[in-house]
Amino acid sequence: MQEGAHGQATRFRLRAMRLAQMIRSADPDLAAALSTGLTEHSSLTRLDSSVPLAEMPDLLSVESLPSIPTAPIWPKRVANDLLQIVGEWQSQDTLLAAGLHPIKTVLLHGPPGVGKTLAARWLATKLKMPLATLSLAATMNSYLGKTGQNITKVLDYARTHPCLLFLDEFDALAKRRSDDQDVGELKRVVNVLLQAVDQWNGPSLLVAATNHESLLDTAIVRRFEASIGFPLSTGQQISQVLKSQGVPTTQATSLGRRLQGRPISDATRLVISARKRAVLTDIPFEAALELTAAEQLHAQTPVENRRSTVAALHDAGKSAHQIAKELDISHTTVLRDLKVITES
Ligand SMILES: Nc1ncnc2c1ncn2[C@@H]1O[C@H](COP(=O)(O)OP(=O)(O)OP(=O)(O)O)[C@@H](O)[C@H]1O
Ligand SMILES: [Mg+2]
Repeated sequence: MQEGAHGQATRFRLRAMRLAQMIRSADPDLAAALSTGLTEHSSLTRLDSSVPLAEMPDLLSVESLPSIPTAPIWPKRVANDLLQIVGEWQSQDTLLAAGLHPIKTVLLHGPPGVGKTLAARWLATKLKMPLATLSLAATMNSYLGKTGQNITKVLDYARTHPCLLFLDEFDALAKRRSDDQDVGELKRVVNVLLQAVDQWNGPSLLVAATNHESLLDTAIVRRFEASIGFPLSTGQQISQVLKSQGVPTTQATSLGRRLQGRPISDATRLVISARKRAVLTDIPFEAALELTAAEQLHAQTPVENRRSTVAALHDAGKSAHQIAKELDISHTTVLRDLKVITES
C-alpha cells in the first residue's frame, strides 16, 4: 500500500520533470523553478526500503517487486530477442562456467507507446530483479555539475545492488549536447555513461530506451551488446491488445485496422475511456468504444494523420526516402511534412 502511494508520487514527479523539459524553451525560469522543486523532493523516489536512504541516488526510482500493467503483445522478432535475454540470464551459471556471460547491456528503440518501458518492466519481472529507473531527461535537466554526480551514483548503485537498471529517454544525452554551452562538463558526463555501457560487468542488467535512435551516434549504439528495434504497431498487434482487454473479436479487428501505426497506448487508453463512458452514460461498452474511437480518429484530419505517421517514422530513424516508400507518398511530400513538423 505504502509502495503504491510512493509509486504514484514517483510517476507524478517524472511527469512533472517531463513537463519542465517541455516548457524549458518557452519559459526557462518556470522550468528551472519546477526542476529545482522536484529535485529537492527526491526522497519521493526512494521506494526500496532495504537500502539506507543515504545510499539511494537522487532521481533513481527503485521498485523491489515490479509488476506489469498489461500483458505485452510483441512482434515475433521483438519477442524472440527478449526471450533470448531471459534465457541467457536463467542459464547464467552454465554460461559463466564456460567463461561466458549473459547479455548485460540492451538498447530498446522505437516510436512512442509501443512497449519499450513495458519491455523493461517485463524483463525485470521475468528475471525477478528490482527495477531501478533513471529518467535521463530529468537528470540532464538538473544542474549539469550535479548530473555527472547523479549518474555516477546511479551506476555505482547498480554495480553493488543486483537490479535491472533502466535508463529511460537515453537520447536526452545527445539532445543536451547540441544546446548547451558547458561542453566540457557535458562531454565528461557522456563519457562516464558510455564507458559504463562499454565495460558493464556487474550483477545488474542495464537497459536503455529511446524513441530517437537517429539522435544517438552509431558509436553509442554499437556499445550495447543487444539492440532491439520496436516497429510501429500493426493492426494485428493492436487488435490482440484490444482483445486481451475484453474487446469482442470483430470490433477488435476493425479497430486494429483503423488504429494501426499509432501508439499501442492509444488503444489501451481508448478502452479505459470507453469503459468510463459506458458506466457514466449507461450505454453498452461496445457502443461506447465505437463512439469514443470515432471521436478520437476524427479529431485528426487526413493530413494531420499522415503527418503524425511521418513524424513517428522519422523519430524511428527512417530516412525521407524510406518514409516515402513505406507510406507510398512522394519524397517531396515527406520533406514538406518534416518541415512543418519541425517548425511547429
Ligand atoms: N506491445 C504492447 N503490448 C501491450 N500493451 C502495450 C504494448 N505497447 C504499449 N502498450 C500499452 O501502452 C502503454 C505505454 O507503453 P510504454 O510506456 O511501454 O511505451 P514506450 O514504448 O515506452 O513509449 P515512450 O517512447 O513514449 O516511452 C503500456 O503501459 C501498455 O498499456
Ligand atoms: Mg517509455
